[in-house]
Amino acid sequence: MKTALITGVNGFAGRHLAQLLMSQRFKVYGTTRLTPTFFSENSIDELIVSDMGNKEECVQVLTTVKPDVIFHLAAQSNVKEAWEQPSDTFFSNTVKTMYLFEAVKQVSRNIRIISIGSSEEYGYSKQMEFPITENSMLNPTNPYGVSKMSAGLMAKQFFEGFGMDIIHVRPFNHIGPGQKKGFVVPDFAHQIVNIEKGRQKPVISVGNLSSLRDFTDVRDIVNGYRLIAEMGIKGQTYNLCSGKPTSIEDLLLAMISLSPSEITIEVNPDKLRPVDIPIYYGSNDKVINQTSWERGIDLNRSLEDILEEIRKE
Ligand code: GDD
Repeated sequence: MKTALITGVNGFAGRHLAQLLMSQRFKVYGTTRLTPTFFSENSIDELIVSDMGNKEECVQVLTTVKPDVIFHLAAQSNVKEAWEQPSDTFFSNTVKTMYLFEAVKQVSRNIRIISIGSSEEYGYSKQMEFPITENSMLNPTNPYGVSKMSAGLMAKQFFEGFGMDIIHVRPFNHIGPGQKKGFVVPDFAHQIVNIEKGRQKPVISVGNLSSLRDFTDVRDIVNGYRLIAEMGIKGQTYNLCSGKPTSIEDLLLAMISLSPSEITIEVNPDKLRPVDIPIYYGSNDKVINQTSWERGIDLNRSLEDILEEIRKE
């Protein structure tokens, strides 16, 4: 039985990954900054309340857990918030990742680290070619993308310089049950359900509808993390994505069509961002070829599951 440590286990992807790994006979430890948490102490092998905010704290967690593999998910993952808190975002996503790498280097270089980056590392440029591959140029266009790109470059340095077993993953947008407000699908879904329940007038307030994104269900994304941990090659980077662009407008219309309510749309200028990448979608060839990853849940089923979960709240 392998021992996995998930940092940020209480987050959106962390919860799904923990459930998956537990069903696959991993011994699962998770760190979280906050209590109370989604997991009770009995529903996960061990829940550790730790900020992992310096190298010593990371060393302490590693010597307690003795993991075979670390899924480093803990991060400030909200792009809009990163514009408001760029230095805190950089500290959370880059500096704390380096503390973890340094601690692993000290404790045991045999530990495999799955470093979770983001498609935001690619950012945008007019010359960009689609689909985006792992070799495409990195040109982040917001503080969040810079923080994840920097962590990814550090992963490469620790692999090349110290021979550490690090794999960097760039997931594109993921959605699914349990995602907090602040991301496009839950922002739309909560309003739709409020309208259905008569708690909001039948007008949905939205941001930029013209952008295109590449959406994958979180349950497929975390299965990708597992497969990459099992079959990925150290020092490599892997995209995780559907390979298909969907416009935010089409996404919104698909969600409205899943509701019995008559809903009109209103663009709220407060929801627009200083810079918003107009389009991106990725190539998933590498992860499919090297790990046999498959996307099992289509966009419509994700949207149905999300609305269903919020209707029950
Ligand atoms: N959040 C939000 N809320 N976005 C909206 C809304 C709204 O009401 N209306 C339109 N949008 C648009 C945004 O302007 C953006 O173009 C798109 O919907 C997607 O926004 P988000 O869901 O906030 O995701 P993101 O693309 O900025 O970033 C997400 O994906 C990255 C991976 O590609 C995050 O999950 C990141 O953590 C992740 O790394």
